Amino acid sequence: MIYKTADIRDQDGYKLLVSLVVPRPIAWVTTVDDEGIVNCGPYSFFNAVSGDPPVVVIGIGAKTKSTIKDTGINIRANGQFVVNLVSEDLAEQMNLTAIDFEHGVDELKLAGLSTAPSAVVKPPRIKEARAALECERIAILEISADRAIAVGKVVAFYIQDDCMQDPAKMYIDTPKLNLVGRMHGRGWYTRTNDRFLMERIDLGEWTKKHGNPPAPG
Ligand SMILES: Cc1cc2nc3c(=O)[nH]c(=O)nc-3n(C[C@H](O)[C@H](O)[C@H](O)COP(=O)(O)O)c2cc1C
Repeated sequence: MIYKTADIRDQDGYKLLVSLVVPRPIAWVTTVDDEGIVNCGPYSFFNAVSGDPPVVVIGIGAKTKSTIKDTGINIRANGQFVVNLVSEDLAEQMNLTAIDFEHGVDELKLAGLSTAPSAVVKPPRIKEARAALECERIAILEISADRAIAVGKVVAFYIQDDCMQDPAKMYIDTPKLNLVGRMHGRGWYTRTNDRFLMERIDLGEWTKKHGNPPAPG
């Protein structure tokens, strides 16, 4: 099947993309507005796109036909956000914070969550989250008045102490974080505990086994 984007309805591009790009990690984003009111919402158009410097991106959509979601309003205004990561035991609370409450409503309180101060940025992290990335805006790609992609440099990493395997070596006990991701259609999620190991093969090792690779071209 081939679908040319020019031939399909706008909403079908979303439908195809979210069924193909799976699983997607979830950025549970906290921001603050001009008055310091904390806002929170989950975003699965999210990923890490650079390790050095550490950079993440978030795709923020429309709240109404002409306004971006509150997370976007706040990042446009002050450039700071915290990506809290979602463990399975927090999934239902994360889902509550996705309800389209009016700007200024304390979604964290409604979901029975609390905040802890961040180390570098003004928006707090979600205290119950086992890991969080404090971010400062590098750029905002303005897609339209109501949509944007925020590109943020991670300026501090929070990992709950008991989720560290070896703090000196910066080894994280990732399975203990028990993070969830988003799958295809509405309402579907996945766990991250079905792992398999496949070591990287370097060129020397490959050549020893198979002989010299064919010349390029
Ligand atoms: C798991 C999950 C992932 C979501 N991902 C996105 C996303 O990537 N982009 C987006 O615009 N909305 C996404 N949403 C919807 C927003 O979370 C929702 O509109 C929320 O109310 C936005 O909050 P805010 O206006 O406080 O920023 C997602 C919802 C859920 C439950």
